[in-house]
Amino acid sequence: MENKIAELKSAASDAIKKVANDLKELDNIRVKFLGKKGELTNLLRGMSQLSAEDRPRIGKIVNDARAEIEKLIAEKNSELKAKALQDKLASEKIDVTLPGRKIQRGHLHPLTLTLNRVKEIFINMGYTVEEGPEVETDFYNFEALNLPKDHPARDSQDSFYITEEILLRTQTSPVQARTMQKNIPNAPIKMIAPGRVYRRDDFDAAHSPMFHQVEGLVIDEKITFGDLIGTLDFFCKQMFGESTKIRLRPSFFPFTEPSAEVDVSCPICHGHGSGCKVCHDSGWLEILGCGEVHPDVLKMSGYDPSKVSGFAFGMGVERLCMIKYAIDDLRLFFENDMRFLNQF
Ligand code: PHE
Repeated sequence: MENKIAELKSAASDAIKKVANDLKELDNIRVKFLGKKGELTNLLRGMSQLSAEDRPRIGKIVNDARAEIEKLIAEKNSELKAKALQDKLASEKIDVTLPGRKIQRGHLHPLTLTLNRVKEIFINMGYTVEEGPEVETDFYNFEALNLPKDHPARDSQDSFYITEEILLRTQTSPVQARTMQKNIPNAPIKMIAPGRVYRRDDFDAAHSPMFHQVEGLVIDEKITFGDLIGTLDFFCKQMFGESTKIRLRPSFFPFTEPSAEVDVSCPICHGHGSGCKVCHDSGWLEILGCGEVHPDVLKMSGYDPSKVSGFAFGMGVERLCMIKYAIDDLRLFFENDMRFLNQF
């Protein structure tokens, strides 16, 4: 009996020592030796066959063995748990000295930056900002601007018609008529109207079926062509730099008379021209159309041309942006290529 106990004890101790990292395996060993049907428990059952004087002595040995094995298991148990914790800590180790991952911050689109600057310049001069619908009536887009049906100038703005009378606006000029009509007749106006416009153009380096314009309209007593030139000269200097010059070329728009197109001296070559890719050697870049508001346009929107006069202008935001940043392909604005957009 005593030998058997010693054997069991050393077998249990060997088994416990062998356990490397599996807590379940350790528990199996506990059940095998100490459980209700375990080997040591079985031995205790055989105690009844012992003589009365052997019983207490053997009983003590069995209890000691039991305590011993329990102790070994407990030790192994905490050893394994400590080891598991160490492993876990090692595998989840964080190097707090590693540089963090940079968070990419978004920023404004170059067209938005350009438009914001245009707005800022005009708001500083006391202009209000007006809006009009992109889905517009033929009346506001053309007729109220002195372009009756069958007027040949309609052809220069190939339009997306939705019905006979409704189209996507081809210019921001309809906001001129809308602003006059919502005012008390002859009340002064000093506004810009930025927004999207649509034309049936191919999509290439210089054309897009959708682009942005900023309309300008100033009406008051005695507004002259000189006021227009002064305003645009100031605007261009603010936009492209103090040394910027403007030049006016006679032009035609049905809603202004006289009309002009305005060029700015190229901000990239400072007007020198030769070898400049942005202005193609000319030193000048066209940026807008403008003129004195046609008396008929004033009349059609309830203003009296004998009491007030005004000027209007319309510029392309993409064009301004391309000039400001020397961008040579309009498609870049709409392709959302981060390599392009990240540069602004
Ligand atoms: N609406 C004209 C265009 O799109 C520009 C313009 C606006 C010209 C205002 C004169 C006055 O070409």
